Amino acid sequence: MKNILITGGAGFIGSHVVRLFVNKYEDYFVVNLDKLTYAGNLENLKDIEDADNYSFVKGDICDEKLVDELFTKYEFDGVIHLAAESHVDRSILNPMEFINTNIIGTVTLLNVAKNHWTDTKGKLFYHISTDEVYGSLENLTDFFLESTSYDPKSPYSAAKASSDHFVRAYNNTFGLPIVISNCSNNYGPNQFPEKLLPLVISNIKNNKTIPIYGKGENIRDWLYVVDHARAIDKIFHRGKIGETYNIGGSNEWRNIDLVRVLCKIMDEKLERESGQSEKLISFVKDRAGHDLRYAIDSSKIQKEINWRPSVKFEEGLRLTVDWYLHNEKWLNNILSGDYQQYYSEQYEN
Ligand code: NAD
Ligand code: DAU
Repeated sequence: MKNILITGGAGFIGSHVVRLFVNKYEDYFVVNLDKLTYAGNLENLKDIEDADNYSFVKGDICDEKLVDELFTKYEFDGVIHLAAESHVDRSILNPMEFINTNIIGTVTLLNVAKNHWTDTKGKLFYHISTDEVYGSLENLTDFFLESTSYDPKSPYSAAKASSDHFVRAYNNTFGLPIVISNCSNNYGPNQFPEKLLPLVISNIKNNKTIPIYGKGENIRDWLYVVDHARAIDKIFHRGKIGETYNIGGSNEWRNIDLVRVLCKIMDEKLERESGQSEKLISFVKDRAGHDLRYAIDSSKIQKEINWRPSVKFEEGLRLTVDWYLHNEKWLNNILSGDYQQYYSEQYEN
């Protein structure tokens, strides 16, 4: 039996990781520590909430006493750390929360793990990071490698970069067994509708305008969230201690092209006249300091760990659209809450 702490398991990616571990490893006991911020939603885990090998704890990763108590109670063998403030636009509106959770929270977890893991045999602290720490690619032929220098450009990515540095420092200074992965943009079921894809789906469904920042020429590399969870599973079990792995979909899209594809799928699914959804596109003020392009070279994880994306983009988009259309209650619960205040602050000024 192994005891694993997963942080941020009620969020978008975390809920897919928790589900995969609880269902796949009956001999693991998974503790999900999540503060349930606006982004955390226990509805995401309804299907596994009663599993014998799963327990949810509502709490803050910055709360050292709580984290210490959990380590004492469960004697964790591993940590998979996903809890974070994750949205660039919110980091522009309010950077401080990103420093608290992403930096102080990560260092709190590292400290407690270091204090408890006097014998590090069989232990692993796995930190989930982002490709945004590498900055913005201006040249279309460049890719982010694990050796690319950090150059974060938003308060979100600066806070994530800082947390990555602390994780490596705890490995170098204290010998804490760590591994890090840096992933590209995820999409799929359960993503909070402040991020591009679910926002577009939700707005089309509700006949609201689709806000495209600037000219829509920014490029992102998209990966289906379940493929990210599979990569995390593989790295947790087969990653080399101290190493970093880049994870990506090799699937680059300009925002405007991606949104046009989504519009076509939505027209079909909602049985609307072809071209109707595209009419909702509206070009709005650009994001401050908007990174132009992210693109991942994931050859290291492909060669060393034998992971590659399994879900084709067109298929993943259709699965995602179907999920949002069939989970109206999930979406409406979010749209009726604090979300409205965020939305007007972000888009209606
Ligand atoms: P999310 O915003 O959907 O979920 C974050 C979760 O963390 C929520 O459940 C929230 O309640 C919880 N949380 C926030 N602050 C907390 C705190 N102080 N204590 C405990 N729990 C807290 O985020 P996501 O998109 O699922 O991202 C998860 C991780 O993956 C993050 O570390 C993010 O940087 C990273 N990442 C995300 C993407 C992406 O495309 N979404 C890509 C690469 C990496
Ligand atoms: O690259 C990995 C990162 O991907 C993760 O680390 C972040 O947690 C995750 O949020 C995501 O960051 P982005 O900023 O790339 O994602 P977002 O969905 O916010 O935006 C995607 C692109 O779409 C980006 O170029 C901004 C643009 N956009 C976004 C929104 C919300 C718009 O044009 N209009 C919008 O309304």
